[in-house]
Amino acid sequence: MIRRGVEEGNILTHSADSASFCLSLLLLLFFLSVSLFVDRFLYAMRLHDDQLRDISARFQAEMKKGLSAESNAAATLKMLPTHVCSTPDGSENGEFLAVDLGGSKFKVLQVKVRKEAGRVRRSVEMQEQTYPLPKELLIGRGVELFDHVSECLKDFLLQKKISLEKKHPLGFTFSFPCQQTALNQGLLLNWSKNYWARGLQGKDMVNTLRQAISRGMDVDVLALVNDTVGTMMTCGFDDQHCEVGLIIGTGTNACYMEELRHIDLVEGDEGRMCVNTEWGAFGDDGALDDYLTEFDRDIDAASINPGKQCLEKMVSGLYLGELVRLVVLKMTKLGLLFDGRVTDALRTKGKITTAHVAAMEQYKDGLKNTRDILLDLSLNPSPDDCIAVQHVCTVVSFRSSNLVAAGLAAILTRIRQNRKLKTLRITVGVDGTVYKTHPQYAKRLHKVVRRLVPDCHVRFVLSESGSSKGAAMVTAVAQRVTARRHQSLSSFRLSRDQLRSVKARMRAGLEAGLKSNSHSPVKMLPSYVFRTPDGTECGKYLALDLGGTNFRVLLVKIRSGLRRSVRLYNKLYPIPLEIMQGTGEELFDHIVHCISDFLDYVGMKKARLPLGFTFSFPCLQAAINVGTLVSWTKGFKATDCEGNDVVDMLREAIKRRNEFDVDIVAIVNDTVGTMMSCAYEDPQCEIGLIAGTGSNVCYMEELRNIEKNGLGEMQRMCINTEWGGLGEDGCLDDIITEYDNAVDRESINHGRQRFEKLTSGLYLGEVVRQVLLDLTRRGLLFKGRVTEALKTPGIFETKYLSQIESDRLALLQVRSILQHLGLDSTCDDSIIVKEVCGAVSRRAAQLCGAGMAAVVDKIRENRGLDQLNITVGVDGTLYKLHPHFSTVLQETVVALAPQCYVTYLLSEEGSGRGAALITAVARRDQVEM
Ligand code: BG6
Ligand code: BG6
Ligand code: GLC
Ligand code: GLC
Repeated sequence: MIRRGVEEGNILTHSADSASFCLSLLLLLFFLSVSLFVDRFLYAMRLHDDQLRDISARFQAEMKKGLSAESNAAATLKMLPTHVCSTPDGSENGEFLAVDLGGSKFKVLQVKVRKEAGRVRRSVEMQEQTYPLPKELLIGRGVELFDHVSECLKDFLLQKKISLEKKHPLGFTFSFPCQQTALNQGLLLNWSKNYWARGLQGKDMVNTLRQAISRGMDVDVLALVNDTVGTMMTCGFDDQHCEVGLIIGTGTNACYMEELRHIDLVEGDEGRMCVNTEWGAFGDDGALDDYLTEFDRDIDAASINPGKQCLEKMVSGLYLGELVRLVVLKMTKLGLLFDGRVTDALRTKGKITTAHVAAMEQYKDGLKNTRDILLDLSLNPSPDDCIAVQHVCTVVSFRSSNLVAAGLAAILTRIRQNRKLKTLRITVGVDGTVYKTHPQYAKRLHKVVRRLVPDCHVRFVLSESGSSKGAAMVTAVAQRVTARRHQSLSSFRLSRDQLRSVKARMRAGLEAGLKSNSHSPVKMLPSYVFRTPDGTECGKYLALDLGGTNFRVLLVKIRSGLRRSVRLYNKLYPIPLEIMQGTGEELFDHIVHCISDFLDYVGMKKARLPLGFTFSFPCLQAAINVGTLVSWTKGFKATDCEGNDVVDMLREAIKRRNEFDVDIVAIVNDTVGTMMSCAYEDPQCEIGLIAGTGSNVCYMEELRNIEKNGLGEMQRMCINTEWGGLGEDGCLDDIITEYDNAVDRESINHGRQRFEKLTSGLYLGEVVRQVLLDLTRRGLLFKGRVTEALKTPGIFETKYLSQIESDRLALLQVRSILQHLGLDSTCDDSIIVKEVCGAVSRRAAQLCGAGMAAVVDKIRENRGLDQLNITVGVDGTLYKLHPHFSTVLQETVVALAPQCYVTYLLSEEGSGRGAALITAVARRDQVEM
């Protein structure tokens, strides 16, 4: 019995099994037949692997096009440089604010990254708040959108009780295409997704946010990152192989680490930079036309950006639900669904969302969900309708993941080829609601990618904490680098008050130097030049010009009267360092040797020409043709000269050579020669300025103020201030930096010419070198490698400084200058070097401006004027070659001496012409006496 029962039971069970099997089979067949008919209807959306490989190849070609400077404008993949050059390396630290704008949620966050004591890993703590973002703001005025962001930020600080006093660094995740030339700058190229706020296209989004952030908050926006980049960095925090960021959410996009040498839009060829592909725009040029369906065209036509974001409209969450609705609507209209009955709800845009699509494709409850959703649309679905609609969802979402797989395959292949690898091991960080919430999306995507690129071992990591964690990593690096750089460069920044105070100290120095028996570091040396030229000067003169960059011998022919003119013939002679720093006799013998050569050259050995000697060093003069060298300056250090009359030394040397004779009529400082040369053109020129190898000024002083001389009957005399000496008594110590001290210590006249060492060409390059050495030692430059080139004094001559700072020069050219100087640099290095040069030269120009303000105000007061109109004759390589020096100097004078209207006249032909003019006058005076 029992047995039978069992058998019966078996039989029973058997028959029940076969019944359910048959039912399942029937259902499956039924399901398959419905699916097949949907498949047939949507055949154009079902992409097989060959088609995906074809799309992937087109994609690769477009990436190349976007990376090249020539074709970028025409490329749909904009391949935007992000200025993020490395994935997290574990050194990130600190507390950051973050704003995340552009995904389905608008969020404000605080991210705290800490290294825990005794542990290698860092901990990250985050608190976040999602804020509503009314639709009107997305398509309203841009200013209002950003005002809203700012208000939410303020609310967040208050809610979370975050101090309003402290400065907070902020990383801004802004998920739209931006052209970035730096991490903290990004011009909005165009809106995408459902944003169309007015007035922001082409504007810098960092600045826009900064401006919107209301006054009550001290927030420093340090980095702008796309959400793909934030995602890559978030995932990179835990997985160092994460070098691709992928978003499949409201929009779709990907970024990856590209070799710098391939990114034409950024200079530099070492290392990598993350590139934001903005792949949503792929197909905007028609590259996907053969894959588009009528539904895609309808979606595009009804969007706020027709013709734009072709791939995004086939792939991302903003459009998937709508695509399904359009397909279902069409099928219904054709009588293929719901017995051909169309409802108003089904006709309404947006009634089927991507969340619906995800729900309809759920494993177990999918069909039930489908039925509920369709009922909600007032449709009356049969079981076949539900299966058909569910299958429509599958086809649409599968196409989406297939297209993403094709794009990703292109990126992965490119990375593998870039690195010349047979197989690539890489991690892709992914975020976005579609990827996260659609039940089958991720699995399908992974499978297809692995099929398309079998030579890449890909790990997909879901970004659990959103892109802000990654944005904080980027901000941390930016903050560290900026802080250290600023720390070094801030010591070169001078406030208006500091400059006023320098002006006052210079003024005090000028006054003190005029006193008899003064020991002022500003020597105020009488020049015995009593007036500027009046056009009556004439004759043929020999001139020497010693002490600037070049030593020159000149023949100057001056004509007076109606046809007044000055003609020059000159020859340059190098003075070797061993002569500059040898004995006085050797130096003057060398000079005489050059004169002899020149006289041969012009065929005037026999003529005993009157000679004017521009000698650009401080000389104590008792007459126009007597000059005792007080002390060498700049690079000269010849022995047995200081304390001696250099005119005598020259005369002696001429005698020693005994080949020719000259009549040394005048010894002239280069400032005085420059003033005289310019005054020949402009009688208002009563100041001479040299901003060259050295720095100095002369000007016409009232004789009554010159206690040192008893030349009562004359009105004025030109005074060579020798202002370079200011500070020798310590009066500039508060603005002198550690770098200046290093330069001073290594100079041949330690403790002397402190103002000159802050302002002139011989030293600026050295100051720059000291800063670069320091930054390198601190690992902020040149990969921390202190090379021999960097240790070489004098590598940064004025001409190089000037070239590096030229605005017209691209960074690549800056790099090649550095290369030429033996300094191997990345593009970031070049930016820093340029910044350092800028800080040092700006301070120099401002200090010269402050000095000049003291001089012009003194002249104005001397003459009892409310307003002074005066011209400054200027010479010197720094002033002439540097792209910004003259402007900054002039601006400073305007600011510090507002009652003086100063014109600057460039001395075109050097001070030899002035020396000749002085010689002409002195000779006439000699004759008259
Ligand atoms: C979030 C990120 O997790 O995902 C955002 O924090 C990103 O930065 C978003 O934009 C993308 O997904 P969705 O679906 O919100 O657009
Ligand atoms: C020259 C003058 O033009 O400029 C020299 O002729 C002067 O007398 C020199 O010394 C200053 O500039 P630098 O840059 O050569 O020191
Ligand atoms: C859009 C944006 C892009 C963003 C993506 C995902 O495609 O243009 O910048 O990364 O959406 O949010
Ligand atoms: C040095 C000299 C000075 C000269 C200046 C510019 O400062 O001491 O005499 O005018 O350089 O060349």
